[in-house]
Amino acid sequence: MNEQRSCGLSSGVEFKNLAYKVQLGYKKGYKEILKSINGRFPSNKLIGILGGSGSGKSTLLNLLSGYEEGKYSGTIRTYGVDEDLKQYRKKSVYIMQDNYLQDLLTLRENMEIAADLKLGDRFGCYAKKAIIDKVISVMGLKDAIDTKTGILSGGEKKRLSVGLELINEPSILFLDEPTTGLDSSACTQFMEHLKELTVEGKTIICTIHQPSATVFNLFDEIYILQDGSCFYRGKPEDLLPCLENNGWTCPLFHNPADFAIELSINNVNIVQESVWECEEEVTKDEPCNTNKVDISDVSEYYSFKVLMKREFLKCIRNKTLTYLRLITSVMNSLTLSVIFWKVGSDASKMLFNYNFIMGFLLHLMTPSLMLTILTYPNEKLTLFREHFNRWFSLKVYYLVLTLIELPIAVS
Ligand SMILES: Nc1ncnc2c1ncn2[C@@H]1O[C@H](COP(=O)(O)OP(=O)(O)OP(=O)(O)O)[C@@H](O)[C@H]1O
Ligand SMILES: [Mg+2]
Repeated sequence: MNEQRSCGLSSGVEFKNLAYKVQLGYKKGYKEILKSINGRFPSNKLIGILGGSGSGKSTLLNLLSGYEEGKYSGTIRTYGVDEDLKQYRKKSVYIMQDNYLQDLLTLRENMEIAADLKLGDRFGCYAKKAIIDKVISVMGLKDAIDTKTGILSGGEKKRLSVGLELINEPSILFLDEPTTGLDSSACTQFMEHLKELTVEGKTIICTIHQPSATVFNLFDEIYILQDGSCFYRGKPEDLLPCLENNGWTCPLFHNPADFAIELSINNVNIVQESVWECEEEVTKDEPCNTNKVDISDVSEYYSFKVLMKREFLKCIRNKTLTYLRLITSVMNSLTLSVIFWKVGSDASKMLFNYNFIMGFLLHLMTPSLMLTILTYPNEKLTLFREHFNRWFSLKVYYLVLTLIELPIAVS
């Protein structure tokens, strides 16, 4: 396997005095979402960011992954392997809370297209198939391989979202609330899959809402946020002793995660002494505020071919929309032809010629505009995810969308 797939060794990421505020509007002041927090997420671990709703979990994850474009103060930097934040983010993928997948393709097709877009033509068919089979087996998706993605269960969709990003072996996975919408057994199963990935040398940083006690104990490290500040950070097994030291005893048979989150929501402050020492170990580099990640080095021509194939498949599968658009287009052409029959050669009907040209232009523009209006809102977040994770460049995507539209526009 090549260099890209053998990056098992990854760095940890640490942040110091990280603060983030957003402007609420003209003369409405600022809202402080993260309030000068410190932390360190080591490599090859399953790390959970917990906290009440609105405590800043997604914001912290977005800043670390580079998904949030806003300016922050403080420093975010990597440590361990010799690399900078830009390299760290290049090795990472970001998986959103909702599953934005290509619903009309089967699980296998989604995987194959992801493999083609991410690995390019440097890998042969057999190598790609072996990689896909491995990912499918790791994520436990064998039974659903020929099922259309749109009808997969919530848990399967979530595992597919992760599986798609595992194809090019990223070292770091950022996941925003991966367990939302899953029942407790699917949630545990999914988190166990993630835990297995850390054994293979991946670092997984995820935000999570109310983990069950089983899931809570799967984490290697947890970071609990309280209204933008750090409530607790450290190992899950040290949480209850720490709370007890502060005079809060978790009732018997109570989920420790729920107990800690309830305390954090009720503005209880705890003192945590031991972990703060590691702040001193932060290196003295300049802060790095670059959020941009490079698009992968697969040739644009190859990406173009794969995307064309995908869009073509989607057109074929979405029969109703394609037929409707074709029929509308033909009907419009016929109506225009009947209304303006032979007006071109009659000089007394100059105004009709003008009307015809206007009508023809509208007919030409409407189908392509309608396509954008109807499909873009649904496609937008899928595009964000795929582009952010460096599947293809935007210019290739727009070229493909324009070309796939041509036959209907011409008809
Ligand atoms: N661009 C923004 N402008 C104004 N407020 C924002 C913006 N982004 C986030 N917020 C606010 O900051 C707070 C933290 O948001 P964030 O999405 O990080 O919370 P969260 O902990 O992930 O919550 P949840 O568990 O509900 O997903 C929220 O109160 C949110 O409304
Ligand atoms: Mg969130």
